[in-house]
Amino acid sequence: MPLFVWKKDYSVGVELLDEHHKNLFRIFNSLYENTMHSKEVEYVLPIIDELQEYTEYHFYAEEKHMREQEFSGIAEHILKHRDFIGRLKSLYSQYRHDDLEVTIELIVVLGNWLLHHVLEEDRKYSKIVQE
Ligand SMILES: [Fe+2]
Ligand SMILES: [Fe+2]
Repeated sequence: MPLFVWKKDYSVGVELLDEHHKNLFRIFNSLYENTMHSKEVEYVLPIIDELQEYTEYHFYAEEKHMREQEFSGIAEHILKHRDFIGRLKSLYSQYRHDDLEVTIELIVVLGNWLLHHVLEEDRKYSKIVQE
């Protein structure tokens, strides 16, 4: 069973951004599963790369949406995004094939951060929640 499953309750009311969140969960699951099955470094590092690239792509789209909606909490929200990018970069440098337990823990912590961020922070700009 995948670790992170997107549910309808997680919707931010913007189809494109919901799709992004689903894709982020999918990448996290693949990272988790491949690390659990002790795949080679050459196999796992590109997934961490993909996660970084996709996260930056998603944050850019989300920040654009918040600007368009003139969301008042944007500055604070952007800081949270920057913080997460920094954490992903450290995941890349800390990835150790010989210490998979640490890596798996880190993946779970980061995945939970993302889940919490979608539920608590992203939903603040969601019209569904505001109404
Ligand atoms: Fe988001
Ligand atoms: Fe966000």
